[in-house]
Amino acid sequence: MSRLSFFLNYLSDPRIATLAATPQTVVKKVCRGIDFSKDMIVVEYGPGDGAYTRYLLNTMTRKSRLIAIETNKRFKVQLKKIDDRRLTVANDDARNVLRILRQNGLERVSYVISGIPFSLMNRQAIQSIILDTSEALESGGKLLVYQFSSCVKKYLKRYFNNVSMRLELGLPYYYVFEAWNSYYIRVGA
Ligand SMILES: C[S@@+](CC[C@H](N)C(=O)[O-])C[C@H]1O[C@@H](n2cnc3c(N)ncnc32)[C@H](O)[C@@H]1O
Repeated sequence: MSRLSFFLNYLSDPRIATLAATPQTVVKKVCRGIDFSKDMIVVEYGPGDGAYTRYLLNTMTRKSRLIAIETNKRFKVQLKKIDDRRLTVANDDARNVLRILRQNGLERVSYVISGIPFSLMNRQAIQSIILDTSEALESGGKLLVYQFSSCVKKYLKRYFNNVSMRLELGLPYYYVFEAWNSYYIRVGA
């Protein structure tokens, strides 16, 4: 998608939350936390027009799978143009991740990578997405979040017992979180 189309799409949908796609230099830095040598199942929240999607497909093994969950219909059309049998595009909300996985015959995944704007969501929506993400991840699985805001940190700490944060430079900067559980947390126990 051209820069202008991305920008026009942003004007009509506040959930896009950014004027332009993430530059590839930043995509590579964010994906540093992924072990691409293994077959894996990755879920992507908010792929937009596919900046991370293309990088992931280019880098992951032939037996890996990528489930891209995107609410915006125009972005969905762009993503569907990517001709790769490893990719499944769901025009849906990240809140429905567990249902989407079930519908695709999947239960647990290796990584979730998220660019959705948590800072624009209410507390309940953030909690629900982070909790369901922690349930979707296999043992040792990891959630990667890139954001302009660090507001998601406290929610990550609630459902994951390991959370790291770093800052990556790029238009003007991104917070990058990696979250994983080294033991099972029973919520509400
Ligand atoms: C900041 S943009 C990131 C786009 C792309 N990943 C990139 O880095 O260039 C956020 C994306 O998340 C999508 N989005 C926002 N809320 C969402 C939700 N609840 N579920 C799925 N996608 C969502 C938006 O439509 C938009 O494509």
